[in-house]
Amino acid sequence: MARSFISIADLTATELKTLVANGIKIKKAIRSGNYKNPAPLQGQTVSLIFSKRSTRTRISTEGAVAYLGGQPMFLGKDDIQLGVNESLYDTTRVVSSMTSAIVARVGPHSDIQALAKDSRVPVINALCEKFHPMQAVADMIAIQEAFGAFSGLKVAWVGDANNVLHDFALASVKLGMDISIATPSGRPVSDEIKKLIANNAESGASAHYTSDPLEAVKDANVIVTDTWISMGQEEETQQKLKEFAGYQVTMDMAAKGGAAANWKFMHCLPRHKEEVDDEVFYSDRSVVFEEAENRLYSAIAVLDAFVVNKGVVE
Ligand code: CP
Ligand code: NVA
Repeated sequence: MARSFISIADLTATELKTLVANGIKIKKAIRSGNYKNPAPLQGQTVSLIFSKRSTRTRISTEGAVAYLGGQPMFLGKDDIQLGVNESLYDTTRVVSSMTSAIVARVGPHSDIQALAKDSRVPVINALCEKFHPMQAVADMIAIQEAFGAFSGLKVAWVGDANNVLHDFALASVKLGMDISIATPSGRPVSDEIKKLIANNAESGASAHYTSDPLEAVKDANVIVTDTWISMGQEEETQQKLKEFAGYQVTMDMAAKGGAAANWKFMHCLPRHKEEVDDEVFYSDRSVVFEEAENRLYSAIAVLDAFVVNKGVVE
């Protein structure tokens, strides 16, 4: 069976470090005009089955396939029979018989698991309700670029206990960083994910959970958040806006909480003003646009490892 990439938990620490290092090498090569394109996917297609909207993930993945010499095939929710006229199982069998990989953005985690189980080709998770691994690889590249190393850093999440957090936290502790996570008291990180984070922590890396954003950002080198209302949760908007009162990332929050002098702000995007104000979002502290651009380089690194090298990350 092909090796799929569903969550950061699927990687060893060495593999994650390799993906980050490869992404940085690819970035330097592309930016300097020295990217050599041996086109290992020439003549092959990579399908992108997306049941939800996307800007960054779609652009970066389609771009990555092109950089590797292949042809991306975007299959949006109104393009194929999936979910309306055909089962996930049948779709997986058919799509994986004609393409070299499936990059999928789905709702339930069980959908991405089902795809991976029945696919003949690698399945790359482009976001499900539980994980967003390609985002986390790009985020780790941004941290490496901003600080030069991971060990000794503290990252703080102030926001929802969601898919982006799960893989961000897994990647952080896997690379030896401490993480402090503030989520509203009614929206704690699940015990299952806490256990997964603990099991993925490099020796010495810790995860701390609180409902107090000021406590979370204390001594943080990185403050990170995401939308409070993930795709599919639109009906909960009014309720969530109430629950997240006091969670907007601001300069004042960082100062009052005692963030590290060199703190940086991260956000996977798309962003809304309620979770971070303009002053932080467009400041020199913010690495959000580098982070977004890194999605291309991390996508090339991930596809190279999982599709070209058949799951060997080197
Ligand atoms: N960060 C991210 O995954 O963005 P898109 O939803 O636009 O792909
Ligand atoms: N948590 C967000 C991330 C979007 C990139 C969502 O699932 O909609």
